[in-house]
Amino acid sequence: MNVLGIETSCDETGIAIYREGEGIVSNLLFSQVDLHREYGGVVPELASRDHIRRTLPMIQQAIKESGLEKQDINAIAYTRGPGLVGALLVGASVAKSLAYAWKIPSIGIHHMEGHLVAAQLADPDNIPTYPFVALLVSGGHTQLMACMEPQKYELLGESQDDAAGEAFDKVAKMMGLPYPGGPAIAGIAAQGDPGRFKFPRPMTNRPGLDFSFSGLKTFTMNTLQTIESDPGSAGMVSDQDKSDVAHAFQEAVVDTIRIKCQRALEQTGLKHLVIAGGVSANRRLRERLGEISAKHGYRIFYPPLSLCTDNGAMIAYAGYLRHKTGQTEGLSIDVRPRWPMTELG
Ligand code: KG4
Ligand code: ZN
Repeated sequence: MNVLGIETSCDETGIAIYREGEGIVSNLLFSQVDLHREYGGVVPELASRDHIRRTLPMIQQAIKESGLEKQDINAIAYTRGPGLVGALLVGASVAKSLAYAWKIPSIGIHHMEGHLVAAQLADPDNIPTYPFVALLVSGGHTQLMACMEPQKYELLGESQDDAAGEAFDKVAKMMGLPYPGGPAIAGIAAQGDPGRFKFPRPMTNRPGLDFSFSGLKTFTMNTLQTIESDPGSAGMVSDQDKSDVAHAFQEAVVDTIRIKCQRALEQTGLKHLVIAGGVSANRRLRERLGEISAKHGYRIFYPPLSLCTDNGAMIAYAGYLRHKTGQTEGLSIDVRPRWPMTELG
């Protein structure tokens, strides 16, 4: 069984093939960051057009690299949502057209389920088993889920405003750092003075598992303005100032996530935690969560670092899992730019 995966929900074209019994046998990624950089964020129309250019040649290349022939592909998985509608339509149209031409099924995948199951592509001794709590933390989502069995999701809490990754991106933009902001903030935070600023941990001093990151963004903006208007700064925010602010911001996000994860584990009585989505690549987050796991006997699982951000491998693998359960769909194209994960089942 070989499943081709197509990811085109945002600004990355990801194409991969999952082969039953072997794993990911090819995995190609084209990032559009250079295309969008000058705009400071993703321009949807440019994203769709670039996916159109890349998808088919990358599929040909992925098949070639896998050593398979196109007739060896048994199913095509694509990201059905959530994401940018035009970008999703490219992947869905290509997937359905090829599925029709090759007389094989297509399978629409929820992007966040892809992120989640990527944790099962880690080393064999570090693969999560159900039930577990999942923290899905990306540029568009910050959600805690109880996952009692495969493909069913019970929402425990989510961000009421910005996603954690989005907050990283916006704060980076404020400081003139390049998109995507997460790695840029994490990079300069390493040189930050840990004692200079302490930022709030939003929504942690009252019960509940929801998040809010937009106030933290405003807090960061105000801190930068205070530095700028300080008579000693000559109206300048220095690189050291930026590192100090980035450090405090990252600590606040990471600590807030740690507190909520711990609370979710206590509330559900579960011992396993899976962290997935782009922000799960954050080193400081892994460090801080490592501390709670050591202290409370939890086990924490992550996708391999290269599969934390968007990629085709997670879609191919999620497609394989759904194909195995007999999921089928027709030929009509029906993408879901907004798609609550709790509707899956
Ligand atoms: O999952 P992903 O690739 O795309 C979405 O589904 O949104 O996540 C991208 C997000 C961006 O907001 C990016 O800034 C963030 O993940 N990100 C990080 C890191 N690497 C990526 N945030 C914090 N630290 C990182 N190392
Ligand atoms: Zn993603």
